Amino acid sequence: MSSTIESVLVENRVFPPFPDLVKNANISGMEAYQALCREAEQSPDAFWGRLARENLVWDKPFSKVLDESQAPSYRWFGDGELNVSANCLDRHLNTPTADKAAIIFETDDGKVSQVTYRQLHARVCEFANGIKALGYQAGERAIIYMPMSIEAVVAMQACARLGIIHSVVFGGFSSRSLQERIVDVGATLVITADEQVRGGKSIPLKPAVDDALAAGGCEAVKHVIVYKRTGGKIGWHEGRDLWMHDVAANQPSVCAAVPLNAEHPLFILYTSGSTGKPKGVQHACGGFLLWALLTVKWTFDAKDADVFWCTADVGWVTGHTYIAYGPLAAGLTQVMFEGVPTYPNVGRFWEMIQRHKVTVFYTAPTAIRSLTKAADAEPAYHPREYDLDSLRIIGSVGEPINPEAWMWYYTEVGRERCPVLDTWWQTETGAHMITPLPGVTPLKPGSCTLPLPGIAAAIVDEAGGDVEAGQGGFLVIKRPWPGMIRAIWGDPERFKKSYFPPELKGYYLAGDGAQRDRDGYFWIMGRVDDVLNVSGHRLGTMEVESALVAHPMVAEAAVVGRPDDTTGEAVVAFVVLNRSLPEGEEAAAIAKQLRDWVAKEIGPIAKPKDIRFGENLPKTRSGKIMRRLLRIVAKGEKVTQDVSTLENPAILDQLSQSV
Ligand code: WT7
Repeated sequence: MSSTIESVLVENRVFPPFPDLVKNANISGMEAYQALCREAEQSPDAFWGRLARENLVWDKPFSKVLDESQAPSYRWFGDGELNVSANCLDRHLNTPTADKAAIIFETDDGKVSQVTYRQLHARVCEFANGIKALGYQAGERAIIYMPMSIEAVVAMQACARLGIIHSVVFGGFSSRSLQERIVDVGATLVITADEQVRGGKSIPLKPAVDDALAAGGCEAVKHVIVYKRTGGKIGWHEGRDLWMHDVAANQPSVCAAVPLNAEHPLFILYTSGSTGKPKGVQHACGGFLLWALLTVKWTFDAKDADVFWCTADVGWVTGHTYIAYGPLAAGLTQVMFEGVPTYPNVGRFWEMIQRHKVTVFYTAPTAIRSLTKAADAEPAYHPREYDLDSLRIIGSVGEPINPEAWMWYYTEVGRERCPVLDTWWQTETGAHMITPLPGVTPLKPGSCTLPLPGIAAAIVDEAGGDVEAGQGGFLVIKRPWPGMIRAIWGDPERFKKSYFPPELKGYYLAGDGAQRDRDGYFWIMGRVDDVLNVSGHRLGTMEVESALVAHPMVAEAAVVGRPDDTTGEAVVAFVVLNRSLPEGEEAAAIAKQLRDWVAKEIGPIAKPKDIRFGENLPKTRSGKIMRRLLRIVAKGEKVTQDVSTLENPAILDQLSQSV
């Protein structure tokens, strides 16, 4: 992230909010924002309690807002009952929203279909009735391994309706990753599709489920429900496998939403940490939904006439909060896209904004950076060739957005009349935490600006003490908030250790390094743990290392990140083989084999961009791998510091050679 740090240090441009947005915004003006912040600070319980009562429909009202008695396992609205799906669908049925488009779906090859809120409600009910008829009930876990589709939202909402806890696995993950998640979560149901279609190609999904279930440990799975996307040829296990349309067929289009305790888990989503296997981040119905809805209203300034488009996949938290739940709870019309930004050409995003008159657009810096390059290379698909006048707000998420990419987004996409919202948050935070507000915040390119009302974000040192403005430190959240992670599924110790380390006074530790400037603006510097961010996807270095050493040819491996112009960070692997050091073509062939192996073990996103072979790794005399040095070598820089404590200093030269 060093290039980001350099550019932010010289960044001094400020863009005040646009007057028309300030005037009409849901949070209108700096004073209104500060008033909310004050209200939250003076009496957090009254603040969150008021918002929860005003924004959600409760089956049974809560009497207590926050229960801290089991901290850091906080309970929010813990004696209240509600249903998330009822809050996303049923609440709109007797309003004009009922016949408004809920989802406008565009396939990879450009076919457009849409469902109204009333139709989506009926489809969710039919499918929920179908899985209920199969015997599934509240508390069970379902794995969802599906392409971007209305059906994926139907599956998630149907689970939420019955209190079945879903765990969505990104369609790009391997059968191996899928199997690990099925086992860890103890799934009894898997919902998938025959194939997914991206960039003109069909990619099988169901075979990965078959492989995962055959690998063992998944005996609890009773059914695999398959959405027929392409009709491609797939294997079929009679009795276990069912078509999604058959499950929903002949079911009543009304299905009572089960009132659930606010703390009932809504979903578990796996994400990478610094150690061990990915952790199952558990979110609760009441708090998650409140925070998803509030941030749609506050950050995206949700208005009835909006056409909202979040380009994330439902396999990531962004697709949970800002596709499957938040926009629906807010009654928005949203666009959902099956494909990739570069197919059939690199103007696809801009063309879709134009076609659907998108007003709020939310994407990732990695997409912006690659589309910047693509637009230079193919001017015919430059955003300026499209009518983007419908846009009023453009957002960014997933990794630091460098000021250069920010300016391009602001100028070429937003035409200098839309605020760029650089939203900082995480799988664990449920929704936005630090972000500009369209009607409030003067923008500085590269800064995610100020915390949302109620979010006690701060920068602290190793002992939890506040650091001064301009000093780097750990980003923490000092007070609990409703959308926060509730648990790591099945691992309470890891939950406490990872997020609430004792030395940090009970603060939530985000795992990011950051600093605050004199205006109180936050500048995120990237992860401080062994977590990489590749194209906005979180990857643990340990995960990639474990995958590599599982290959019979590999004796030892160390993985680090290297700054990358397009993907933010790239994976670099240093590998010791249990054979002689390969050279030339042979080295290239083995490197390819290892790359493919990692793709098979984890998924293509984890593939090392660069593999270096060595007879050894740089270690201290006590045997610790010196990752700090490997990061320098990975960047192609010379190691200038003292390496005399190394067991084997000569190894650094060997590892500097790219394959
Ligand atoms: C990590 C969380 C947030 C949903 C998608 C990713 C990085 C996220 C920003 C931002 C700088 C950011 C952080 C964070 N990150 N947004 N606006 N500026 N860094 O969720 O997979 O849980 O990853 O993404 O490093 O810790 P995630």
